[in-house]
Amino acid sequence: MNSSSFLARSSSRISTITLQLRAKFITSRSFSILSNSRFLGEVRIPKFPIIKRVQPTQFRRVQTIVIGGTKERVHERSDYPLDKIHELFKNDTISIIGYGPQGRGQSLNAKDNKLNVILGLREGGRSWKEAIQDGWVPGKDLFTIEEALKKGTIVGNLLSDAAQKELWPQFVPHLTKGKTLYFSHGFSIVYKDQTHVIPPADIDVFMVAPKGSGKTVRSHFLEGRGINSSYAVFQDISGKAEERAIALGIAIGSGYIYETTFQREVFSDLVGERGVLMGAIQGLFLAQFEVLRARGHSPSEAFNETVEEATQSLYPLIGQNGMDWMYSNCSTTAQRGALDWYKPFRDATKPVFEKLYTSVADGDETRRVLEKNSSPNYREELDVELKELSESEMWTAGKVVRKLRPERK
Ligand SMILES: NC(=O)c1ccc[n+]([C@@H]2O[C@H](COP(=O)([O-])OP(=O)(O)OC[C@H]3O[C@@H](n4cnc5c(N)ncnc54)[C@H](OP(=O)(O)O)[C@@H]3O)[C@@H](O)[C@H]2O)c1
Repeated sequence: MNSSSFLARSSSRISTITLQLRAKFITSRSFSILSNSRFLGEVRIPKFPIIKRVQPTQFRRVQTIVIGGTKERVHERSDYPLDKIHELFKNDTISIIGYGPQGRGQSLNAKDNKLNVILGLREGGRSWKEAIQDGWVPGKDLFTIEEALKKGTIVGNLLSDAAQKELWPQFVPHLTKGKTLYFSHGFSIVYKDQTHVIPPADIDVFMVAPKGSGKTVRSHFLEGRGINSSYAVFQDISGKAEERAIALGIAIGSGYIYETTFQREVFSDLVGERGVLMGAIQGLFLAQFEVLRARGHSPSEAFNETVEEATQSLYPLIGQNGMDWMYSNCSTTAQRGALDWYKPFRDATKPVFEKLYTSVADGDETRRVLEKNSSPNYREELDVELKELSESEMWTAGKVVRKLRPERK
């Protein structure tokens, strides 16, 4: 079988899987994929996924997906209608501490979902001003951190990860028996040797971590979509921590929510953002741009062939349809070339990913974040590096090219 027909075939199989997950009236379902897979740590990576069977073995509300022999639990928004969420949190005040991208997205979504949400922010700071612009009212639903900690029965610690360490001593006296503490990252808990964040033993502690920017948490919610998130329970004193974690995850804007642990979340997240989500993409773009420039191509040509076509055309298509679809729907010249070259790129970068993972697991990445982002001027210091980046030839070329983008009719 030639590669394109194989890819087209696996594409239709993947669509089948998606349909299985989205089917609303199937009260119990799971699917299994037989794969020629290999192990990488805990996760089986299927090389050639083939559906073995579709068999109803789970009852509704907890679906188990099995990919490459690995079982995972998934919950979805339709399992937690708003009246159920209201019932679960009817006696709660949800205090969101921090109003960065996550604090903003999560608190506004939960407020729009008619939960009792208040904010805790430092008075006069950037976030305080933004919150007022967004309609939060000092003394009504916008308070100092201290006051919000006092009032909250569920406390969302959505400060920057460095500030979570710095302000932890302020949290502790307010985390009294019966309260709940949640995070959107495993950072503070997993790297407790560095952060000293150790919750009192008599409260529920869980995590709800949206798999995307807080801006997307909000924009997807406003569009009526949900974002994928993961959840984990660290301490379950009430016996209800898991249900409340999932319900809160839905309330703050999740569509599908996957089970994880604090450690697996923070390791994969730190690798991801340093890797293909941000750092590796920037590195790959730059490497290709520099080679094209060194070989005599104009800045606009190098930019168009590197960043513009990727972000404006191919990546959105990959996002919508999958990589296999992309292969089947590009020229056969591109298909041949991409099939020949993805392995050398994988082989060249894999040692870098291995090094990155080790750096995350050893705590070197978090040490650097805590050290660098604890300085009082950390935002300004980051801004200096970002300014240098945006003034680099690749991105200045980008600014010119973007101005030339055809207008929408
Ligand atoms: N951003 C994402 O896409 C994303 C995705 C998933 C999970 N997460 C996790 O969600 C959590 C929040 O992240 P984020 O990106 O929304 O926030 P962030 O931008 O890293 O942090 C911003 C918040 O922290 C406050 N803050 C920083 N230093 C402070 C200090 N010394 N005292 C008081 N407040 C301070 C800021 O207040 P001021 O404005 O007053 O400085 C602001 O409200 C983190 O655990 C992060 O890892 C983030």
